[in-house]
Amino acid sequence: MRTTVTSEPLPESGTLVVPIGHDGTLSTAARALDARANGLLTRAMAAGGRLEHGRTIELLLPAGLPHERLLLLVLGRPEGTRRLDLEEAGGRLAVKLASLRVSRASLASPEGLALGIPPSEAMAALAVGCRLRAWRFTKYQHERPDEPQPKIDELVLYLDARELEATRAQLAREEAVVAGVLKARELVSEPANVLGPAEFAQACRQLERFGVTVEVLDKERLEALGMRALLGVAQGSARPPFVVVMRWCGAEQEKPLAFVGKGVCFDTGGISIKPAQGMEEMKFDMAGAAAVFGTLQALASRKAPIDAVGVVGLVENMPSGTAQRPGDVVRAMSGKTIEIVNTDAEGRLVLADCCWYAQERFKPQVMIDLATLTGACIVALGRERAGLFASDDTLAQRLLAAGEATGDLLWRLPLGKAYEQHIKSEVADIKNVGRNREAGAIAGAVFIQQFTGGVPWAHLDIAGTAWTNRDTALAAKGATGFGVRLLDWFVREYYEGSGQGR
Ligand code: BES
Ligand code: MN
Ligand code: ZN
Repeated sequence: MRTTVTSEPLPESGTLVVPIGHDGTLSTAARALDARANGLLTRAMAAGGRLEHGRTIELLLPAGLPHERLLLLVLGRPEGTRRLDLEEAGGRLAVKLASLRVSRASLASPEGLALGIPPSEAMAALAVGCRLRAWRFTKYQHERPDEPQPKIDELVLYLDARELEATRAQLAREEAVVAGVLKARELVSEPANVLGPAEFAQACRQLERFGVTVEVLDKERLEALGMRALLGVAQGSARPPFVVVMRWCGAEQEKPLAFVGKGVCFDTGGISIKPAQGMEEMKFDMAGAAAVFGTLQALASRKAPIDAVGVVGLVENMPSGTAQRPGDVVRAMSGKTIEIVNTDAEGRLVLADCCWYAQERFKPQVMIDLATLTGACIVALGRERAGLFASDDTLAQRLLAAGEATGDLLWRLPLGKAYEQHIKSEVADIKNVGRNREAGAIAGAVFIQQFTGGVPWAHLDIAGTAWTNRDTALAAKGATGFGVRLLDWFVREYYEGSGQGR
């Protein structure tokens, strides 16, 4: 879907979307049309039922107007309207347009409505929501005549000439983030036969055209570095592992922000093999790495004035004659020894070496890892929120706020000495699982924490949020791109200096 911006007069044909207020106020554009059509909009509004934010009132061949279709889009919440509310309204608009089989629509400015958000930002937010919600992964499907939801090709934003530049600038910034989200979704949606560790590493090179430095560490290099925890996971697969380091240097800073991603391109469980039922879902087990990729792309493409580094561990967890066994003991890059009790707890092993490497090499001011780490996190929080674990309260507060602002919601869960007892091993320094079914998400988190070298660190367990089995406000069924909007907002709000935030 494309978004274009113009200050031309509203078109005289096609599908026109016109904002109206939840309290019955008409936007400037709606008022003009209402006058032209002898009060048609006012009457439609009165007859249309409750004016609930995000709803549309549809008028086919509106009397007195030349358009094929007029959609009155209700905007505003009585308790106050947030940008996210407008994005979600844009999402609902996308669904509506698709159900009407409209592929191109014109959107009039909400100017005249008391939204508390400038029209340029409101328009950008509506367009962002529309794009995010309209996206679907259809690469491997031929066109189907019975397609329930055809794609929207273009949304044209009509606004006052005075708003044009501000809207263009706002949109350019927002679209950098949208593109990052969609890229993450695309990577997550690709099946594992198409996107293995090598292909993912190759894809990372695409970031070079945004000005990101991309360094691909191959198996020999990982061996030389002593990343035996990560290599142990990879050794069952015929496809070799990679670690990719992506650096966006938009400002000279002493210490970068570090993002670390779990990139298990497919997780069979290894020798501790998973049941067949639902195993196909495990192609998504690289969603943490995809979110890091998407975040770096967003930051670089909007030229964020910060220094950020992304480290992703790309492996495939397979059972085979060369696979790691339960009971094996490996030495991580940090020197800690790990007893492998369950080969299906592989994400933490990959992150152990990636986190250690990231903090040792870059001495980051903060380090945030993202991982589809535990089924236990889904049990705890469902698919509504990702688990947040943080060694630092300020960092936790900032991430929680970023979640509320972007809709990538988080919920903080505890760390602590008592839980560290759960991963004590009889034969090695630590083991890779906790106490059976007790506090499974926390056991994963405290395990990773052992490899953070004491830098302010947060772990996001996105097992429940990286993929959705039902349509949501901003994502159709499938990969969500969770984490990209969260981290982009987090960086923009807290690390880009005053005047740069929203
Ligand atoms: N990738 C899975 C986590 C997962 C499971 C995500 C189900 C989404 C749905 C991870 O590698 C895993 O297998 N974790 C194990 C850990 C256990 C063996 C300690 C789990 O959650 O069962
Ligand atoms: Mn696993
Ligand atoms: Zn996994």
